Amino acid sequence: MRTQVGIIGAGPSGLLLSQLLHLQGIDTVVLERHSRDYVLGRIRAGVLEHGFADLMREAQVSDRMDAEGEIHDGFDIAYDGKRHRVDLKGLTGGNTVIVYGQTELTRDLYEGRDRMGGVVVHNAEDVTPHAFDGNGSPYLTYRLGEAVHRVDCDFIVGCDGFHGVSRTSIPKDVLKEFETVYPIGWLGVLSRTPPVSKELIYVNHERGFALCSLRSQVLSRYYVQCTLDDNVEDWSDDRFWAELIARLPADAAATIVTGPSIEKSIAPLRSYVAEPMRYRNLFLAGDAAHIVPPTGARGLNSAASDIYYLYHAMVDHYRKGDATGLDRYSERALARVWKGQRFSWWMTRLLHRFPDANDFDRRLQKTELDYLFSSKAAMRSLAENYVGLPF
Ligand code: APR
Ligand code: PHB
Repeated sequence: MRTQVGIIGAGPSGLLLSQLLHLQGIDTVVLERHSRDYVLGRIRAGVLEHGFADLMREAQVSDRMDAEGEIHDGFDIAYDGKRHRVDLKGLTGGNTVIVYGQTELTRDLYEGRDRMGGVVVHNAEDVTPHAFDGNGSPYLTYRLGEAVHRVDCDFIVGCDGFHGVSRTSIPKDVLKEFETVYPIGWLGVLSRTPPVSKELIYVNHERGFALCSLRSQVLSRYYVQCTLDDNVEDWSDDRFWAELIARLPADAAATIVTGPSIEKSIAPLRSYVAEPMRYRNLFLAGDAAHIVPPTGARGLNSAASDIYYLYHAMVDHYRKGDATGLDRYSERALARVWKGQRFSWWMTRLLHRFPDANDFDRRLQKTELDYLFSSKAAMRSLAENYVGLPF
């Protein structure tokens, strides 16, 4: 097979890039190691920056997002039993976020690929990038059953997530990694119950962090901070609801509707960045290059901003023979990635209870919250990062 851009991974990054390039007449092939149902079966986050939503509209896959996604003008931070509203719309000159599940978004991207006859190869095993170091033309190989296949291309884009093959294909002496792992996790539950609140509630409680989120008015998503030794098996639904309710402000605790969990999982919290995000003819985007703790709702949005820069760089290259965007991709993408990293780290430090915190740390966290709730400037900084900084 021959294509212009070979993409590894059919997550939101790979599918969005493929869709946007196809609309500009640039050919792509996406190689995904799992089945389509497996990819669509993963429960992930669901808060979209306004810039990301615009990119979905440009990709012509936004009808359902605009019809079913919820526009949220703000959210609450609960501390010491009181709820403090973060007026996103008021503090950012009208910017908001859309609450729309990543699973639904990925489904819309797939349907966009179907409509345009995009090539997405599933169950592609042993996907391997070759000759991307500038000596000769890049190509990808993969196996379907016993048969080995090859895709010749101009560029390879690794959208294969944290556990993919692309980042690890960059020479060790070139790749620089930055990481911090938090001694806490998030236990998440999806339940077919009405959300406890119209807007999200982030809770800093002495028993630990909690988050009340939603997927729709009949599908709720809740999280409680847990330890890294916790196992899902140790958490019955009753124990989960009891712990969540113990952490909620009184009005929410009194009105929350509980029910059987339809998904329950634990996610560790880590901050990670790999640099550079380009090595010769191999590019990295999304979780393949960076991971954030979910506290700032940046994961999906950081992936989308990578795609924004790479998409425009590829169009400039193929349309005008202008390589500036490709040459500056890593620098531009990383500049915004690090701002997302800072914001996610800051939100994580602000809202969780750390087992290794001393009295000074705890007093500092309290002071940070008091300052936030008493300063419009601090609230505005939080709001502008949450709705998404300009690309
Ligand atoms: N070969 C082919 N496909 C692979 C390989 C491989 N070696 N390794 C991983 N993949 C596929 C995975 O199966 C997955 O479908 O790459 C895809 C990567 O998708 P994501 O992990 O969703 O990463 P990305 O598209 O960058 O989306 C980032 O996902 O995890 C959330 O919080 C994260 O919201 C962020 C978003
Ligand atoms: C979610 O809805 O799953 C969600 C929302 C906001 C976050 C993290 C996760 O910060």
